[in-house]
This record gives sequence, C-alpha cells and structure tokens, in this order.
Amino acid sequence: MTCLSCPSETQGPLSQTRGGSKVVLFLTGNELGALRPCGCSGGQLGGIEKRPAVFDRVSPHRRMIVDTGNLSAGDGEQDLIKFGIFWEAFRLLKYDLVCLTSQDVVMAERLGLASGPQQGFGVVEDRDGAFQVFRKQFPDLGMTVNIAAFDSRTTPAEDAADLFAGGPANPTVNILILRSSNSGELRDLIAKSKGIDCIIFPSDADEPHILSEAGATPLVITVGRLGRHIGRLQVAVPTKGARPVLEYAVIPVVADLPDDAALVQLYGRYQQLVSAANLLENYPRFPLPDDLAFTGSESCKTCHRYEYDQWSEKSHAAALNSLKKVGSDRDPECVICHVIGMEYEGGYLSEEQTPHLKDVGCENCHGPGSEHIKSLGKTATREPKMSCLACHTAEKSTGYAGHEEEYMQKIVHWREPAAAGNVKD
Ligand code: HEC
Ligand code: HEC
Ligand code: HEC
Ligand code: HEC
Repeated sequence: MTCLSCPSETQGPLSQTRGGSKVVLFLTGNELGALRPCGCSGGQLGGIEKRPAVFDRVSPHRRMIVDTGNLSAGDGEQDLIKFGIFWEAFRLLKYDLVCLTSQDVVMAERLGLASGPQQGFGVVEDRDGAFQVFRKQFPDLGMTVNIAAFDSRTTPAEDAADLFAGGPANPTVNILILRSSNSGELRDLIAKSKGIDCIIFPSDADEPHILSEAGATPLVITVGRLGRHIGRLQVAVPTKGARPVLEYAVIPVVADLPDDAALVQLYGRYQQLVSAANLLENYPRFPLPDDLAFTGSESCKTCHRYEYDQWSEKSHAAALNSLKKVGSDRDPECVICHVIGMEYEGGYLSEEQTPHLKDVGCENCHGPGSEHIKSLGKTATREPKMSCLACHTAEKSTGYAGHEEEYMQKIVHWREPAAAGNVKD
C-alpha cells in the first residue's frame, strides 16, 4: 500500500503539454457527515469551505470534480440536514458528478432532492443492476472521461467490461467506483474486465491510498474519508491514440487554506437549521439511577469555595462559550462534551432552561450532586462520573494521549493532599 502526500501542490495551472493533453480529476467521498472538523484541537484537516482553494488551482476547462458518495453516517434528523447541506455545497463547489450509494439515494428521496439540470451536477445512483455511465468530454483536449459505479456483489465481473463500450472514439478514461470492499472480487474484476483505467475502491482509512502496484493497470485507489483530503487524479494522453497515463496524489485539506465565503455562509445555515430543529431539546436521554439529579456547579460553591474558585478559572468553566463563539452552541454533536449531563434526563437542555448546567462542571467528573448535598457531604459523590477520556478523545483532543499527567496538573482545583480540609468549615 502506498501512502502519498502532496502538501503544497506547487505546480501552476496545468498547461497543454507538448504533443499531449492533461485533465485533472478531483475526487472526494465518504464524508460521513463531516462538513467541517470540530475545531476542538488545532491542526485538524477538512472542511467544505476549503475545497475551492484546492479545486481552483486547475482551470474549469481542464478539471472534473467527482464525489464518490457515502455522505451520511446515519439516517437521523441531523444526518438529513447535513445531507441537504452537502447537496447545496456540491452545487456551489461546481461538482460535475456525485455518485450516490443506495443509502444516499434513500436520503435524497426523503428530502425530495430530485436530480435535474437545475442542481448543476450530474448524479449516478447505485440501483440494482441498472448501470449509469457519466461521461464528460473535453472537446478542446480531445479526451473523454467515463465514470460508473459497480457492485461486484450483485453483478458478475464480466459485465464491467461492457459498461463503457460504445462511447466516443477519442481517448477515453474509464473509471469504475467499486462498492464492495472484497479484495477477491477486486482481483476477479481486474482479471476479467478490459479497458478500465482506474478503480476507486471503498475507503477504510481517512487518508487516500494507492492500492495497486506501481505502473499497473488499472490504477486502484481510495479517496479517504471525512473530507480530510482531496484525491487528485491526473490523466495525461502523451500522444494521439496512446493509452492515458494516470497519476494519483493526495492533497490534505489543511487549516490554513483560505475559506470560501459562500461555503462559510452555507455552514452558518446548517447551524441555523440544527438550532431551529430543536435537536438539543429532543436528544434521547437516559434516566439517572436512583432518582439522582444534577444540581449545577454553583450548588457546590457554598461548601467547596476553594475548589469552585480554582475550577472557575480553568477553561472547563467556559466550555459552552467556546461553542458560542463558533455558532455551534445549539448543536448536540458539539454540546454533549461542553456541558453537564446532556445525555441524561434532568441534564442540560438549553441555556435558557438549564443555565446552571452549562460548561464542563463539577458533576461531569464527580457525578450528580443531589444525594451528596442532601446529606451535607456525608454521602460520597458517586457514578455516573465521566473519565477524562470520555471527552478527551484522540479526535477532539489531539494533545491528550501521552500527556495525561500534564492535563491533570492543569485542572488541579483540590488541595494537596486531597482529603481533609477540602470543605469550608
Ligand atoms: C467528544 C467530546 C467533544 C465533542 C463531541 C466536541 N468537543 Fe469541542 N472540545 C472537546 C475537548 C476535550 C476540548 C479540549 C481539547 C484540548 O484542548 O485538548 C474541546 C475544545 C473545543 C474548542 C476550544 C478550542 C480552543 O480554542 O481551545 C472549541 C471551539 C470546540 N471544542 C468546538 C467544538 C465543536 C464546534 C464541536 C462540534 C462540531 C465540538 N467541539 C464537539 C471535546 C469535544
Ligand atoms: C452542604 C455542603 C456540601 C455541598 C453543597 C457539597 N459538598 Fe462535597 N463534600 C461535603 C463534605 C462535608 C465532604 C467531606 C469533606 C471532607 O472529607 O473533607 C465533601 C466531599 C466532597 C468530595 C470528596 C469526597 C467524595 O465524595 O468524592 C467531592 C469530590 C465533593 N464533595 C464534590 C462535591 C460536588 C461536585 C458538589 C456539588 C455538586 C458538592 N461536593 C457539594 C460537603 C458538601
Ligand atoms: C464532559 C467532557 C470533558 C471531560 C469529562 C473532561 N474534559 Fe477537559 N475539556 C473539555 C472541553 C470541552 C474542554 C475545552 C474547554 C474550552 O476551552 O472551551 C476541555 C479542556 C481541558 C483542558 C484545557 C486544555 C488546554 O490546553 O487549554 C485540560 C487541561 C483538560 N480539559 C483536562 C481534563 C482532565 C484532566 C480531565 C479528567 C479529569 C478532563 N479534562 C475531563 C471537556 C471535558
Ligand atoms: C474535569 C473533571 C473535574 C471537574 C470539572 C471538577 N473536578 Fe473535582 N476533582 C477531579 C479530580 C480528577 C480530582 C482529584 C481527586 C480525585 O480523583 O477525586 C478532583 C478532586 C476534587 C476534590 C477533592 C477530593 C478529595 O478526595 O478530597 C473536591 C472537593 C472536588 N474535586 C470538588 C470539585 C468541585 C466543587 C468542582 C466544581 C466547582 C469540581 N471538583 C470540578 C475532577 C474534576
């Protein structure tokens, strides 16, 4: 397996090289709902608002932009909202083609998103046995790109060879998006199908890869996941009549790429839709055991003044504000780690209804306070308590793993040695 990186992509706009022509295909897919990285830690890759900065490096006359589908992680209400936003993003980003998986087709139908000329991009759907080939011609370059999706679980490999038959006579580039990740089926397909230049294999990793041996035909690649990278497939036809030469490179969608204003605005609309749908209030909640209840960090202050003052100076005590600054304070996918008890009955609902439960507070780590307070501290605090790792995951807190002690030192709010004297007498 080869892992490629092309961090700068310094080559300027592609020119028609002597005696031949070049086209660039930008490939994305498997977004799984990731419109933009959460921003919890620095250095995260991805974001639809950064894609134009990559696409626009190649003139529209020489490029093709394709999404291989698999846009959603689930089929809930928030997934539907995201799907609709992706659909609009593809139009703004001037995609040529979106290849919908059967799950994507269901989502599009639920949203009433008909494929038609007004949406600005072509659609190919995974439907049993019905092949659709999308064809883009580059007349001034004398080249045609054909793309189809193929499911080797339901269709014999032999049929793939016929898929692209009967197209135009000028140099064609035939690309197959494979839906089954069975490597035996892939080998079978390669052996039995002629004339396929590139197979896009389902991704099981965030970063795109080249799976085929150097120089082998077809080129077998993956496009990665979560929009963190963009695949750049360059197709060159060196001389008239020659087979196209393919080169695949990976462009990480780094944080310092400039943002596109229209897509930033679209993300703002996503946040408004999420807020208006009251997803936060409607989030499914478990009951707390034994009639325990959350009482809020303020309620600990009377007896634990020292700890309270220490805690309130740390960033945990301003965690909801961080979401407000980026407009995500009504998004349950974010709020869940930035407040107390969102997944429990009696936990955080909204800033208006439960102002005492905002931010990462005492009860995230020490458990719901009701019994402890009722007993004036005689009953020890108890489960459910959250561990640091519940929120400081590898994805959200890239600096946490390996630095647990430093993180712990930064939140010290207890007197040493912890125990006696922790309560104001
Ligand atoms: C799994 C828990 C979790 C979820 C879900 C989560 N966050 Fe965070 N967030 C964290 C943690 C932990 C930190 C602190 C990371 C660190 O400093 O190591 C953080 C920090 C932040 C910060 C502060 C970064 C800074 O400047 O210091 C922002 C902003 C933020 N998150 C936004 C979001 C948004 C937006 C979402 C939803 C898209 C989200 N978070 C979802 C756990 C989470
Ligand atoms: C009415 C006073 C009072 C209030 C209010 C109170 N505590 Fe306590 N807390 C105590 C006493 C008394 C102890 C035992 C003191 C000791 O051993 O130093 C204690 C001990 C603790 C301890 C250490 C032992 C243990 O149970 O793990 C923690 C943690 C703690 N409290 C957390 C909290 C939190 C969180 C809140 C708010 C939800 C809170 N307390 C509210 C009186 C109180
Ligand atoms: C309920 C989720 C949650 C839990 C549990 C949690 N954290 Fe956090 N932590 C956060 C969030 C969210 C932030 C970011 C706050 C902000 O800046 O908005 C954060 C920030 C921090 C920071 C500041 C990072 C920095 O560099 O600014 C430290 C340190 C930290 N947490 C340590 C811990 C430790 C240690 C534990 C376990 C004892 C823990 N956290 C448990 C959610 C959590
Ligand atoms: C991010 C998690 C976290 C938050 C938020 C937090 N604590 Fe703690 N607290 C800890 C940890 C970890 C310790 C270290 C001792 C332990 O393991 O109990 C501790 C220790 C304490 C102790 C001393 C316990 C003892 O055994 O004597 C008290 C009292 C306490 N916290 C109260 C509070 C209060 C009150 C708040 C809110 C104002 C708060 N804590 C917020 C994680 C947290």
